[in-house]
Amino acid sequence: MTREDVRSAAAAVGADPVRLEGRDKVTGTARYAYEYPVSEALYAWPVASPFTKGRLTLVNPDEALAARGVLAVLWHSNAYRLQSRENEELYLLQEPTIAYRGQFVALVVADTLEAARHGADLVVLEADTQPHDAVLTDRHPGLYRPVRVNGGFQSDTAVGDFDAGMAGAAVRVDERYETPAEHNNPMEPHASIAWWDGDELTVYDSTQYPTAVAEGLAGLFGIETQSVRVLAEHIGGGFGVKGGNPRPAVVLAAMAARHVGHPVKVALTRQHQFANVGYRTPTIQRVRLGADASGQLTAIGHDAISQSSEVQEFAEQTAVLTRWMYAGPHRRTTHRLVRLDVPTPAWMRAPGETPGSFALESALDELAMAGGWDPVELRIRNDAELEPENGLRYSSRNLVACLREGARRFGWERRDPRPRAHRDGDWLIGTGMASSSLQARAQPSTATVRAHPDGHFHVLVNAVDIGTGARTALWQIAVDELGVAPERVRISIGDSSIGRAQGAGGSLGTASWGWAVTKACRELCEQLKRDHRGSVPAAGLEVSADTTADLKTLQPYARYSFGAQFCQVRVDLDTGEVRVDRMLGAFAAGRIVNPRMARSQLIGAMTMGMSMALLEEGVLDTQYGAYVNRDFATYHIAACADVPAIETYLMDEEDTHLNPMGVKGVGELGIVGAAAAVANAVYHATGVRVRELPIRLDKLLDQLG
Ligand code: MOS
Repeated sequence: MTREDVRSAAAAVGADPVRLEGRDKVTGTARYAYEYPVSEALYAWPVASPFTKGRLTLVNPDEALAARGVLAVLWHSNAYRLQSRENEELYLLQEPTIAYRGQFVALVVADTLEAARHGADLVVLEADTQPHDAVLTDRHPGLYRPVRVNGGFQSDTAVGDFDAGMAGAAVRVDERYETPAEHNNPMEPHASIAWWDGDELTVYDSTQYPTAVAEGLAGLFGIETQSVRVLAEHIGGGFGVKGGNPRPAVVLAAMAARHVGHPVKVALTRQHQFANVGYRTPTIQRVRLGADASGQLTAIGHDAISQSSEVQEFAEQTAVLTRWMYAGPHRRTTHRLVRLDVPTPAWMRAPGETPGSFALESALDELAMAGGWDPVELRIRNDAELEPENGLRYSSRNLVACLREGARRFGWERRDPRPRAHRDGDWLIGTGMASSSLQARAQPSTATVRAHPDGHFHVLVNAVDIGTGARTALWQIAVDELGVAPERVRISIGDSSIGRAQGAGGSLGTASWGWAVTKACRELCEQLKRDHRGSVPAAGLEVSADTTADLKTLQPYARYSFGAQFCQVRVDLDTGEVRVDRMLGAFAAGRIVNPRMARSQLIGAMTMGMSMALLEEGVLDTQYGAYVNRDFATYHIAACADVPAIETYLMDEEDTHLNPMGVKGVGELGIVGAAAAVANAVYHATGVRVRELPIRLDKLLDQLG
């Protein structure tokens, strides 16, 4: 090998180079949306409704306008008239209606951040209020069946004869599980800088999806998508709340900039993050499982209830993973939703699968106990040959391999299956496990690659790196395809002017963007060889690719990643405190572009799952209809000290039915099943089954004896 070959190998797909922007991040030179120096920028601060439900009767800006530095107050009487009402959540400052406490009802613009904040306190609001209804229950008269749930899935499915399957089962489980509201909290809150040049709008925005932000803003302001430029070079986390659409901060910034004729900066506070950008809906779930005497599932039922707001329907797809996880002839899944006077829920890491897997994988543990089966063996016995509800072949399904490899590495065979059998001083020690899975998808994207006569290549794709390492992974894919030294390949992302592309969400970034990058690189190499005898012409050469048509040629396969999660906990007999000793996950997610970053994603997601199991809980104040714990002092998330040891193993998996790279995506896989693995370990340690997350010590203490 030449030295160039050695360097290329170190950057190729499957190698684990460090992040391209790593140095910029740790030295503080990487800029987040709010940090760009924009001359003559003004500052805006939103005013949140202190009322829960009703109609504003007065917005008096006089005192605010009289304060030093305040330049404008925007509310429904004077704010720019938005041109689109497609997304009700973004129809900001248009009407006096108040749909939930904390909803943005006005915006103060000033020459400093402090003046804007002070001005926001001085805006006088009066309202005709109405009684609110903010509590989700499984008997709520407003429960209805949404036409579809998120992801385009059917609300309800039924196969075989579920009731007969349950009735004929030798061993049954019928339990109710609850998960609370959980709040995404990226380190970087939502932040934007917007400015107008005539009818041209430019924004720096902290978003997971620049293409959607550009298109959404174009619709709201009645301009062409080409007239909006969204720049999103570095994003400090998202976990779903910066995905899908423009979010309120960028819309407010653009409205204010239009109003005052200056660039305007808007950053939400940590407190705003808890009310105004979305959160994971609470869920109430019923899981029914029936098995024959050998542990073969005969009936699988999963009924899920969740909430949305009066503003907009958001239907979490909580029970969908139950449709593909395990074999079994008699099945049903249902989703019901109720619209309450609460903020609109949104995407949060592995939406659907995360709360759904807590219920399903807890219920399987209960079934294993009831039937006297090993939880790992029970899952292996019920592995599915074909996707159970539609008979599709799996593009690849290595759940069993993950279960066996995970069990071997964890030391599962040494486990005494009896609950509360292991004690170490004042600590009860237990182990638990759960399966994991996520859809493996791709969405249309475009990419461009330019060959320069000096031997350099420039790859451009409107991807966004929310901390995952996407930029580096795409660069690796390009280096591999172009077959040149890594330092000859440069990559640009996070700019809507590059072209349309999928957002960072649904764990489908690498598959979607990587496909477009691969296609562009291959076509460039092909053209260089065919038309230019392998050398770059003096004028350079540029090729753009679009995968829209390629995606339509995908054969019908069931495409999912799988995994197995194992966990050891200890529970203090006197205090009920739960400590996680170690977690271990074995995952099969197709080809891994960069094992270092894939592991990092999985470890992060497993930590988030553990955090969900033990700590996270949005507490609803029913009197005000609002989540009251709005900071990290009162909304607890796992920190490094809570996580002594997490190991992940990535199985070799080749899958030729996905995309040219054979990747499935890893972002969200690690959270699915993680909370159930912890809960199952707590049960094994204590003999106490907690079915309502989080597993706080007060839920254990009474029963520890
Ligand atoms: Mo994620 S919840 O798909 O951004």
